[in-house]
Amino acid sequence: MKRIITFFLATTLAVLTSKADEGMWLPSLISQRIADMQEKGFRLSAEDIYSINEASLKDAVVLFGRGCTGELISPEGLLLTNHHCGYSQIQKHSSVEHDYLKDGFWAMSRSEELPNEGLSVSFLDRMEDVTEIILKGCTDEMTEEERRETVRKACEELIEKVTDDKKGLRATVEALYYGNQYFLFVYREFKDIRLVGAPPSSIGKFGGDTDNWMWPRHTGDFSIFRIYADKENNPAEYSENNVPYIPKKFFKISLDGVNEGDFTFIYGFPGRTQEYIHSEGVRYIEEVSDPHKIHLRTIRLDIQKKYMSQSQAVRIMYSSKNANVANAWKKWQGEVKGLKKMNTVEVKRQLEKDFDAWAADKEYKGLVSKIDGIYKELEPYAFATDYFNETIRAVELSTFAMSVARLYQKGFDEGELSKMAQTFYKDYHLPIDKESFIALMKEYGRNMPERFQPDYYKKMMADHGSEEAWAEALFVNSLFADKEKVKALTAEDKETVINDPATEFYNEFVKIHAAEVLPQSRRLNNELQLAYRDYMRGLMEFQKDRAFYPDANLTLRVAYGQVKGYSPSDGIYFTPYSTLRGIIEKDNPDIFDYNIPQTLRDIWKNKDYGKWAGKDGEIPVCFIATNHTSGGNSGSPVINADGNLIGINFDRVWEGTMSDIVFDPEVCRNIALDIRYVLFTIDRIGNAGHLIDEMVFAE
Ligand code: ARG
Ligand code: ASP
Repeated sequence: MKRIITFFLATTLAVLTSKADEGMWLPSLISQRIADMQEKGFRLSAEDIYSINEASLKDAVVLFGRGCTGELISPEGLLLTNHHCGYSQIQKHSSVEHDYLKDGFWAMSRSEELPNEGLSVSFLDRMEDVTEIILKGCTDEMTEEERRETVRKACEELIEKVTDDKKGLRATVEALYYGNQYFLFVYREFKDIRLVGAPPSSIGKFGGDTDNWMWPRHTGDFSIFRIYADKENNPAEYSENNVPYIPKKFFKISLDGVNEGDFTFIYGFPGRTQEYIHSEGVRYIEEVSDPHKIHLRTIRLDIQKKYMSQSQAVRIMYSSKNANVANAWKKWQGEVKGLKKMNTVEVKRQLEKDFDAWAADKEYKGLVSKIDGIYKELEPYAFATDYFNETIRAVELSTFAMSVARLYQKGFDEGELSKMAQTFYKDYHLPIDKESFIALMKEYGRNMPERFQPDYYKKMMADHGSEEAWAEALFVNSLFADKEKVKALTAEDKETVINDPATEFYNEFVKIHAAEVLPQSRRLNNELQLAYRDYMRGLMEFQKDRAFYPDANLTLRVAYGQVKGYSPSDGIYFTPYSTLRGIIEKDNPDIFDYNIPQTLRDIWKNKDYGKWAGKDGEIPVCFIATNHTSGGNSGSPVINADGNLIGINFDRVWEGTMSDIVFDPEVCRNIALDIRYVLFTIDRIGNAGHLIDEMVFAE
């Protein structure tokens, strides 16, 4: 118990100062930051942000799907998120005949709104510090395994107590500060979420992967959904009888726009940061993991691009997969550059040296070199895991074969199998997979240490003589290469499925991974976890005046800052806004990413903007600010000093993508879509003014 008390002391003492605008704060503790927020321009109170008794802004924010944020923008359940967050839904409803990706989609009445199986959104009902409850049974004498088991049981009990399926209540307990603190999060989850509107990709994905992670930016990255509930306004599975959800709170929209220096605040679900990671962890990411992953993905992306440019059908099939592969690929490149520029490894080493000297007479003595040692031992296993994930698991045919095999193992349901097959083959192009297989296996042979390569791999290479010949055999002999054969499968075919070469491929690599890599990496990661718990606590004692915030873990956070330009390199200064003028400057019918709809060209020519232009007469498009965000913050509301909606967050600038590890106030910027461009697009491109009529505007 002693440790917990020390920890609390450290956190409450240390809330005061933070480097400008760095930080993702817990909403329930926002009263600790509110003075700073108000000093920077915020005009509301902590209770307006988070309250358990009254409706507050948190009731207008949702976790969208499994990795984005969304916000309520009408009293009738209308929800705004990014185009890239709704992308797989838009894609699922698309075909060559109804290409909603290409042409956009606008439901002109409620009956045209499209249901999306598997999509849910969650409102945070409440959150609370449950450290004492969770750690009650733990003692300093316990082994790490015993502690983990005690914590797991306590979490399970607590979750069970607050879960209520009838009311759609689900809960999680999350460790903060490497398990020094535990918080309970109770969510209300809605499952009938319908697609209402999306601009054509030439707006919603304007700039594509060329402009992704970059400023200046001109992407109209939004899509619109609606939450449906049962007649009592409670969460319910999809039903024709469901009605639009009436939210406790929704955002009013401000048309005032932004000026440099304006206060902004972002409310959303950042996914994962590692701000307190040890220098060796950073070195591994910067020098080993990121470069290898980037190289492997470059290979896959080049192959995908080649086939996608040859056929519209293939382009639709791979659009969502391709965007996912490309997104992290590009981020890692910015991250490596940023880490190098910030000299993060060296800076951290210095900090660790100072910490070590301070810790000489404390319980934290030797911790730094202990962590260092664990990382060194872990490295080959971490590498093998990264490599396994980016090669073996990237072979679509065999991951699909494996999931079918699992279905056979757990018990057979024909409906399930045919649905799975339908989903898979709708977006599968064998030549891409086969060519990627050949290229990836070549890299695998070169880079995966021999002791982690299965005998199977060596045998295949010996039998076939080359990756090409191996691929030829695999992609002909596997029944999964033929959709019709999969469709004809019955419950009797278990042996066939399990012995299929594609299943075998996956199994053989998994087997050696499970035997030679996983046990070691698990053991070492556990040791690391334990050491980090002490290190984190020590760091908080060591840096008494630093404002600590828990690393992001897909729980609701508040970030605040101001609209601000930046200088990415010597001689260049970027202003913080972009406008329609920039879209026209980039417009080029010959370049897929920059080919805008003709309507937009006409509107520009006739200056036919409706009421959506800014004071300068231009149509605003995007702006940047100093809010500390991460992956998962996409779709987050960008809020002004009065609590009204001025934009939707969707990205960060290239030079600042290392902010998941180290935040540089000089260049770290989030990128938001100006709400006025959203409204302009709904009105002038989608002709869907009825949606705007539902919204409420701030005076
Ligand atoms: N970079 C943004 C984020 O991490 C947007 C990604 C989607 N866009 C894309 N072109 N892949 O999610
Ligand atoms: N684009 C990211 C997302 O999808 C946001 C970010 O990483 O800044 O959440």
